[in-house]
Amino acid sequence: PAVHRIAVIPGDGIGREVVPEGLRSVRRAAEIFGIELESEQFDFASVDYWQQHGTMLPDDWFEVLRGFDAIFFGAVGWPAVVPDHVSLWGSLIQFRRRFDQYVNLRPVRLLPGVPAPLADRAPGDIDFVVVRENTEGEYSSIGGRIFDGTDRETVVQETVMTRTGVDRIVDFAFQLAQRRGGHLTSATKSNGISITMPYWDERVAALAENYPDITVDKFHIDILAAHFVLHPDWFDVVVASNLFGDILSDLGPACTGTIGVAPSGNINPTGEFPSLFEPVHGSAPDIAGRGIANPIGQIWAGSLMLDHLGHPEAAAAIVAAVERVLDRGDLRTPDLGGTASCEELGTAIAEAIAK
Ligand code: NAD
Ligand code: IPM
Ligand code: MN
Repeated sequence: PAVHRIAVIPGDGIGREVVPEGLRSVRRAAEIFGIELESEQFDFASVDYWQQHGTMLPDDWFEVLRGFDAIFFGAVGWPAVVPDHVSLWGSLIQFRRRFDQYVNLRPVRLLPGVPAPLADRAPGDIDFVVVRENTEGEYSSIGGRIFDGTDRETVVQETVMTRTGVDRIVDFAFQLAQRRGGHLTSATKSNGISITMPYWDERVAALAENYPDITVDKFHIDILAAHFVLHPDWFDVVVASNLFGDILSDLGPACTGTIGVAPSGNINPTGEFPSLFEPVHGSAPDIAGRGIANPIGQIWAGSLMLDHLGHPEAAAAIVAAVERVLDRGDLRTPDLGGTASCEELGTAIAEAIAK
């Protein structure tokens, strides 16, 4: 079997604490399932690197990283030192755009043994995937500011939607709905955002013609956010623009107890470039350095990575280990109401992985 080459980028804050736990489970699963992995760790895409070099990435980052089969990423950002738009646009956003990782896959599941803030919901009741557009939309670099420092100061930032960009993410979501429960929900705001969002609706409706077997509905983002809280059991696949998907993919996991368990697969479906796997959460400066971060988002991201590399059984074994350990109920990090450390939970999950 081919050796998979993984670029490991811990980044900042709790990224450095959860990445080793993610790797522990990935390596254990690889050992059990006979998968050959080689990894190389990089210190760029971090605020430390920025302090030393004045940039987030080396000049040759694109050539260096494109030689890998996948990127295993922690989190970037330390706003006390570098403004977030500088650190994020200088690293993660570049990876997503230059490697054309246009699908951001963000599964949301209520896991066993996790105290959920929503009453009367059991594991199985909440199980959906947010499919987030990841290269265009509201995250654009088109715009600017004029009349700086005057009372006419004006800032403009455009939302960009291309036919190719919208169609490819919506089509991906339809295909995922076909493999799952046959139900697609589109996040829109075509009542207030009068050009791009009606266009989004138009493309969803056009592509729906190709998928007569899929039930399609759409909600404006405001009420959709409310439905996530009140009726999380309604959803199967939710497709959203870049910003709406960002918001929904923190809200969804929060409804299942904590954002600390949520994974994110930034996928380049053509395989031309490496895909990137990370937790949904950020560097969490408020808890960084204390060893109490929940490692499950990073571990689950490792499962998504193995799945993407063609090892669905190893991927499933990692998720099963997460579920088994959580179900035991004695090992929980503080975000889940417990006192376990990141390393304790991570080690227990890795040890629970089995064929
Ligand atoms: P955050 O996700 O880092 O933290 C939000 C809250 O959730 C905090 O209270 C934090 O302690 C908690 N939390 C997050 N992950 C947790 C975990 N694994 N276990 C337990 N608790 C957890 O979001 P933020 O505070 O808005 O951002 C902090 C920094 O991270 C900023 O620089 C931001 O830009 C960056 N960020 C990076 C990414 C990324 O690299 N993909 C994602 C989001 C935010
Ligand atoms: C995420 C993050 C990033 C995003 C930030 C850090 C730029 O919130 O991955 O969800 O908005 O995409
Ligand atoms: Mn986010």
